[in-house]
Amino acid sequence: MDKLRITGGRALEGELTVSGAKNAALPIMCASLLSSQPLKLSNVPRLMDVSTMAKLLAQMGVDVSRSEHSLTLTAKDIKDPTASYELVKTMRASVLVLGPLLARCGRAKVSLPGGCAIGQRPVDQHVKGLQAMGATIAIEHGYMHAAAERLRGARVVMDLVTVTGTENLMMAAALAEGTTVIENAAREPEVLDLARCLGAMGAKIHGAGSDVIRIEGVSSLSGASHKVMPDRIETGTYLAAVAAAGGKVRLAGAEPRSLDATLEKLREAGSKISVLDSSIEIEMHERPRAVSVRTAPFPGFATDMQAQFMALATVAEGTALITETIFENRFMHALELQRLGADISIEGNTAVVRGVQRLQGASVMATDLRASAGLVIAALVAEGETVVERIYHLDRGYEAIEKKLGVLGARIERVR
Ligand code: EPU
Repeated sequence: MDKLRITGGRALEGELTVSGAKNAALPIMCASLLSSQPLKLSNVPRLMDVSTMAKLLAQMGVDVSRSEHSLTLTAKDIKDPTASYELVKTMRASVLVLGPLLARCGRAKVSLPGGCAIGQRPVDQHVKGLQAMGATIAIEHGYMHAAAERLRGARVVMDLVTVTGTENLMMAAALAEGTTVIENAAREPEVLDLARCLGAMGAKIHGAGSDVIRIEGVSSLSGASHKVMPDRIETGTYLAAVAAAGGKVRLAGAEPRSLDATLEKLREAGSKISVLDSSIEIEMHERPRAVSVRTAPFPGFATDMQAQFMALATVAEGTALITETIFENRFMHALELQRLGADISIEGNTAVVRGVQRLQGASVMATDLRASAGLVIAALVAEGETVVERIYHLDRGYEAIEKKLGVLGARIERVR
């Protein structure tokens, strides 16, 4: 299993280009199931999760052709509308095939995702929405067996804000008969990017990016070309790394508007941030100040940035309260950060982080994707050597992280 060996203590300097967004690419890849014509995607990040999704789609009969950061998906015939446990258990986003398969084939068999390191993560809202659109969904032997002659438009009020739930319903509704209204929809920029791609395929979607999305179903969708939006969490992760380690870095190819909450908190921590159209420059030459964050659906502070800000807080001046409201078990990194000398106590869904002068390198274990990113940030500021184990989590969501940090001057290497 690969590890990362990081020797901390060096400021980060230079320029990086942000990759395409994992959490936009994955649902957009599933949108290919809605049309028999090619969906041509660019700015697709080279990540394990993208490969897993490509494998899942290929198993169903989708023709996948990939080169560098482009991907063409052609779902001419869907041979088998099944998502097996083997793939779904490794990547929960696989559940995003449910809506499109049901809309296109009238049936789908998708494994229930099972347990997850960060929380329960049920899919009841996906199921509830599809049922409102006329689907029957039975759970047998760990699989959701869904069927519908043709989905009908419906008004769906989500009990809570769910990103992939909103995306699944939006894709299903694109081919349903009549109009669907999703209320309490997720407003995440990735939902909007999916809506843009579906729009290019001929779907009629209004209000994406707000909490009420209206979809007028059409009888078929065409192929399209779409450029995946920049990854706001990757962007935020590198910004938090500079805020913690110090230095001056320009991130090109970013989408600053998708990062307002993160940028505000980084400024509060003392970093100087300048934003141009599609680039963000951060400069930090002092010890960060403690900043408290509370995760919330977009446009609130992203849960996917929580671990990175906890890492930042470990070396900040003062005490930060980090409150997680989206997932009930997303503090696994706290214990690992403590191994590096961080002073953290957990009270319910709040971590109280008292900043220390310095962290010390040690071996730590990554437990999920963003937790791993938090550990990498802590390792960059820790004295001496830190070894981050189980970095397959990082490879799921950060393209060439050791190369990108290496370009900025970090002492980091992958040990195979
Ligand atoms: N929830 C339910 N029922 C549902 C769906 C969700 O109770 O049917 C709950 C979840 O358990 C959670 C909350 O609703 O407590 C929000 O979960 P959401 O459904 O929004 O999460 P998701 O769609 O499964 C996506 C991202 C996650 C990100 C969350 C929150 C993708 C592929 N994944 O997950 O990304 O943390 O939204 O923003 O878009 C990551 O990239 O590391 C990652 C975990």
